[in-house]
Amino acid sequence: MSGEQSPRVPEGFLWGAATASYQIEGHPLADGAGPSIWHRFSHLPGKVNNGDNGDLACDHYHRWREDLEQMSRLGLKAYRFSVAWPRIFPEPGRLNPQGLDFYRALVDGLLERGIEPLLTIFHWDAPLWLEQEGGFLRRSSVERFCAYGSALFKALGDRVKRWITINEPMSFAVSGYVLGQHAPGRRNDLKAMFHASHHLLLAHGRLARIFREEVRGGEIGIAEHQVWVQPARPEKEGDLRVAETMDLLLNRFYLDPLLRGAYPEKILRRFGRFLPRGFEADLGEMVSSLDFVGLNYYTGKSYRHSLFAPYTQARETPTPQARRSAMWEVWPQGLRLLLLRLKEEYGNPPCYITENGYPLPETPGRDPLEDGERIEYLSEHIRAALQARQEGANLKGYFVWSLLDNFEWDLGYAMRFGLLRVDFGSLERTWRRSASWYRDLIQRGCP
Ligand code: FCB
Repeated sequence: MSGEQSPRVPEGFLWGAATASYQIEGHPLADGAGPSIWHRFSHLPGKVNNGDNGDLACDHYHRWREDLEQMSRLGLKAYRFSVAWPRIFPEPGRLNPQGLDFYRALVDGLLERGIEPLLTIFHWDAPLWLEQEGGFLRRSSVERFCAYGSALFKALGDRVKRWITINEPMSFAVSGYVLGQHAPGRRNDLKAMFHASHHLLLAHGRLARIFREEVRGGEIGIAEHQVWVQPARPEKEGDLRVAETMDLLLNRFYLDPLLRGAYPEKILRRFGRFLPRGFEADLGEMVSSLDFVGLNYYTGKSYRHSLFAPYTQARETPTPQARRSAMWEVWPQGLRLLLLRLKEEYGNPPCYITENGYPLPETPGRDPLEDGERIEYLSEHIRAALQARQEGANLKGYFVWSLLDNFEWDLGYAMRFGLLRVDFGSLERTWRRSASWYRDLIQRGCP
């Protein structure tokens, strides 16, 4: 890299923005849809900050045309969104055509504007009926997921060429079954966490194979949350050991079966008893299932050894020199290093950064449209990513999280990630400074 200016990316590089169904759409029960696990969870008292829920969200379900206009004005080359499973299958085995119509219209609107759709099949809003059958703890979820995915291929496979099976199986499993902060809201259930993870990875692998038969000329991947993990005190043997464990648990456990055909040996030795019996027989369906890797990157974490930390003996500790956002430490170089790791240790698969973004709650006395901190964060990360690309990483696109302020899961509407601000009273969208900055960046093709 020479001086300040990063090299321009090639023509086909996908600059985009990302959203997810439950976080933006609102009207989760409209037009024949059934409830999702997030619909139930967010209506339970005390689960979401401020008692917020997705009943209205950004009202994207009605304002999608206006949102498409905004995407055109931003000059987005691509838009990543997800389909709400319970709109498509409100009950097991019963397809709801109105659910499909909504996404068909959205996709057509994108294509008319020359914006490439990147469709996520499952971004956490599983149907409540699936949960009532045992959810991802049961192996039957794999077949349910494949039936749903396959219905989407039939309905949209002629116009959507890029697909993501699952958003962040790690976050879904850890937050949903260990931390209890996300639906379905279980705590400290390691067996459930490993069962759900395994079934999600198997569901991904099996559906990717179906995709290759049903959608010609398309590509399919997964969006993996990846964290850059470091030992708090690299000179201490104990810290090195627990940092390795956390790296294996958070990152490699979800990449290795897909790109190397096996779970990490050290994890199996310590936690293998929590996986479904006979899991080894499923590994063959998981491997070689990716046309690309989606990387959701926000942060790095440092860990120190602590005997009191349950399961892993790893305690997360603040890194003295790191800046913090309202949610996480800021570690742009971690993104470069993770991309280089994909190149060097995982065979350099094509990859997209499918999420990267900066939370900024509103504070009284501060202009809500002035988000210089976000611009700084995004430009540092884009530079780090393009540097990795210069060093040989197979990076093909970058998606900001998020197009709009939205329902940030257990944190509700207070945690804002949008290039566009949403007034959750009037639902008006307004450009933040970061929106104009991103539009200009896309036009130039470099930060
Ligand atoms: C990711 C999720 C996305 C959003 C961002 C901030 O883990 O995939 O839905 O909540 O974090």
